[in-house]
Amino acid sequence: MPGIVIVGAQWGDEGKGKATDLLGSRIDYVVKFNGGNNAGHTVVIGDEKYALHLLPSGILTEGVTPVIGNGVVVDLEVLFDELDALIARGVDVSKLRVSANAHVITHYHRTLDKVTERFLGKRQIGTTGRGIGPAYADKINRVGIRIQDLYDENILRQKVEGALDVKNHQLVKIYNRRAIEADEIVDELLSYAERLRPMVADTALELHEALTDEKIVLFEGGQATMLDVDHGTYPFVTSSNATSGGAATGSGVAPNRIDRVIAIVKAYTTRVGAGPFPTELFDEWGDYLRETGFEFGTTTGRQRRVGWYDAPVARYASRINGVTDFVLTKLDVLDDLDTIPVCVAYDVDGVRFDEMPVNQSDFHHAKPIYEEFPGWKQDITGCRSFDDLPKNAQDYVLALEAMSGSRISAIGVGPGRDAIVVRHDLVD
Ligand code: GDP
Ligand code: IMO
Ligand code: MG
Repeated sequence: MPGIVIVGAQWGDEGKGKATDLLGSRIDYVVKFNGGNNAGHTVVIGDEKYALHLLPSGILTEGVTPVIGNGVVVDLEVLFDELDALIARGVDVSKLRVSANAHVITHYHRTLDKVTERFLGKRQIGTTGRGIGPAYADKINRVGIRIQDLYDENILRQKVEGALDVKNHQLVKIYNRRAIEADEIVDELLSYAERLRPMVADTALELHEALTDEKIVLFEGGQATMLDVDHGTYPFVTSSNATSGGAATGSGVAPNRIDRVIAIVKAYTTRVGAGPFPTELFDEWGDYLRETGFEFGTTTGRQRRVGWYDAPVARYASRINGVTDFVLTKLDVLDDLDTIPVCVAYDVDGVRFDEMPVNQSDFHHAKPIYEEFPGWKQDITGCRSFDDLPKNAQDYVLALEAMSGSRISAIGVGPGRDAIVVRHDLVD
């Protein structure tokens, strides 16, 4: 069972970092295949808390080879800051491999991300401001800079000058910003080249060989299904394919080498940034979930929007990703509730939708149809088997499983590394 993908089923922050870490000791490679330092994964190991943005969470496990795939956009300053911070805490990062085909995020991408958001005004996406969208736009426009370009100064200079041609007009004439000198960008990128050199690799080939040798490769998705540029709530999405298909294109590993797709889903829902969110709560229950679940962004510190579990979203994630197993996280956050509403379908202007509406306007108008489940009113953080869970908690999990399209194979009952109930092995 060598190729395993982990994706988010909702709008991000489902606890993917913790799930990757859980599998850590059994895997040989962990591959980040999409996104960049817009991701924020918190992993709690004993008393230590690690916040990772660009590096895959598997880097925390000894013996694992972490890989940054071609589908990632890499901010080199962030890469080295994150590596140095881990080295200072005694983590061995020497095995890191970075795809020669990954694109870089530069100063002009970060600047454009911020100014375009400001110009969008009320229509803004609420991006993380890390330059993600502009870097992917350059990739698709064929004016991006790849890691391998750092090793041919002439080519690098030509490409940076080409990219800045139009951008400087935009920055100066539209956004009233100063022009950016090509030299400034080239010098900055070259300053990282030598330290980066030993990590740069044909990662698609290395992963192919690893899979042929029956090594276990875990593909770790950033963001989530509903933030996927094709399948999410466009335009309120990130700029990459965060669904399981992205694991193939973003790593160069063929789809038929992927055997298992694990989706992480929270026992309720959160979202950061703008866009539709049918089960969103604006009342005291929203505050309650936000505070109990500590729903504040790992990357931007922003307060997360919160709402009840949305079964049509989970079913959609199951279908789009080909989910074989769900990991249901943060069940403990619901411990003190008397009843727990779950959205089972939507009402769109009087019409019932059991599946995600294909039209954006319908999804914006979707009103949740709720079913109520009795709470368990008991602390479950110490439970380590399904039988340990109170009957009402078991019933809640089984009800979600029945309506979400795939089996729930593990259940998170607390932030710590070992706070998990496993029902089905996630690797074999
Ligand atoms: P990611 O972006 O999907 O990796 O998720 P984040 O790290 O941004 O957010 C998930 C948060 O939930 C982190 O702070 C985790 O430590 C925490 N967490 C994960 N699983 C559980 C769980 O089962 N219970 C509780 N209470 N917290 C959890
Ligand atoms: P993890 O991996 C939650 C959201 C931003 C914004 C939209 C576009 O921790 O789950 P971008 O900067 O990517 O262009 O922003 O996507 N977003 C996330 N929300 N978790 C994330 O990552 C996110 N990465 C991006 O808030 O709405
Ligand atoms: Mg996160």
